[in-house]
Amino acid sequence: MKTPSPRLVIVSARAPFVRTSNGIARAPGGLISALLPLMRRSRGTWIATGADRDPCDASEVPFRVRALSLPSEIRAAWYAGASNGALWPLAHGFLEVCRFRAEQARAYLEVCRAAADAAAEHAPRHAVVWVHDYQLALVPALLRARRPDLTIGFFWHIPWPAAESLRVLPWAAELVEGILGADLVGLHVPRYVRAFHDTLDELGVAYMSEGSSIVVPKGERTARIETWPIGVDVEGWASLGRDENVAAEAERIRSDLGGGRVLVSVDRMDYAKGIVERLEAFERLLEQSSEARERVTLVQIGVPSRETVAAYRELRQRIEATVGRIQGRFGSPRRKPVHLFARTLDATELAAYYLAADAAIVTPKRDGMNLVAFEYVATRPRPNGRLLLSTFAGAADVLSEAHLVNPYDEDGLASAIADVALAPETASDSARMAALKTRVSRLSVETWASGFLARLEQVTEERVPARERQMRLAASAPVSRAR
Ligand code: F6P
Repeated sequence: MKTPSPRLVIVSARAPFVRTSNGIARAPGGLISALLPLMRRSRGTWIATGADRDPCDASEVPFRVRALSLPSEIRAAWYAGASNGALWPLAHGFLEVCRFRAEQARAYLEVCRAAADAAAEHAPRHAVVWVHDYQLALVPALLRARRPDLTIGFFWHIPWPAAESLRVLPWAAELVEGILGADLVGLHVPRYVRAFHDTLDELGVAYMSEGSSIVVPKGERTARIETWPIGVDVEGWASLGRDENVAAEAERIRSDLGGGRVLVSVDRMDYAKGIVERLEAFERLLEQSSEARERVTLVQIGVPSRETVAAYRELRQRIEATVGRIQGRFGSPRRKPVHLFARTLDATELAAYYLAADAAIVTPKRDGMNLVAFEYVATRPRPNGRLLLSTFAGAADVLSEAHLVNPYDEDGLASAIADVALAPETASDSARMAALKTRVSRLSVETWASGFLARLEQVTEERVPARERQMRLAASAPVSRAR
């Protein structure tokens, strides 16, 4: 793996370390585990704007962590308001949940400015700055204005919305201009790049298509939009899957659940994950099948999330009520058809559930990628088990051997759950899982992070002078239209 630039600066909403009751701990999540080794080698700076209540510096790591301290009302208006009350539902197609308020947009700009100021202050000359996600989309252009010498990458980790949806955002043009401050913009799968293409058309921004990439001339430079599918820490999950203690725990889980068929779902409690719809489909299966009533258990691990946002608090109540209803209808003192764990499980605990499960049910209504699908596949030491995956997860574009399902199709979802839960496993299932394991191995999160950074340095080295770009653009057919 190439050694990253010694001048790498990461900008993200979440900090890599958080304070817990047991001291300082590494923050959870695949992104943090992918970026930490890069940062350790580069000895750069990690700037976090403070989505965490208690972000912190960690003196024992060989790089600087700069956790910005923002006034709590600004942080709330940026994180709960503009980011998770507006951009998140917009990108996931939940327009009725979106709320756009001017003071939240101002807070969003203020936080992006603070992040850009910190990056401008800490980045050495000609450093590489990698900005992450929808919470900080204005940072690239703000930073570019402060420090034109920098190489700037940006990754949008969630779906890129349809052009028609983006029109509801009062500051859509500013959002896109902010992102285009980057030299390289990463999206997970080709359908998001196609949607970005439509957005540029809608906004009347001129661009060129180069293969599957988009190139937008910006004065003396260009912004390039490309597909960079993220993955997981494949070896980390695989080694948990081979661990004897994890295997023993998986056996215990299976026996505690009565020795029948086990289904597992793991999600942040987010309306985009389709948890209530999945539970209702499972309820329908229990109504229809005595075999399912006797033998199938669904373990739903629901990580509490964003509870300062009303839509998330309401969702948690709906999930708990639905589980309670199913239990009331189909449970008994000896048997519980659904187990809900409303808490965060660590990787070792999760791996035991992945091993215990005959199938993972990953049925978001919309999801940028969905790494649970990858984790389930990576953890299994042998090519067994089944993955039921929503066609509306980015992962469906890369994990084509999964059992694909449309989570909006209520009967289709119930019958797909019945198939993966009850049909005996065949040679075709094992061939599918073997193919999935190969795909997941090729898409590790380390490869994603180092590949994106290498590409970022390459595209800036290869900068075609702006004048030449403009001439090439003028020579090609008109590709943009006014709004
Ligand atoms: O993948 C999208 C994302 O928002 C990440 O940016 C974030 O780390 C994760 O989901 C969890 O969300 P939050 O940081 O709001 O808990």
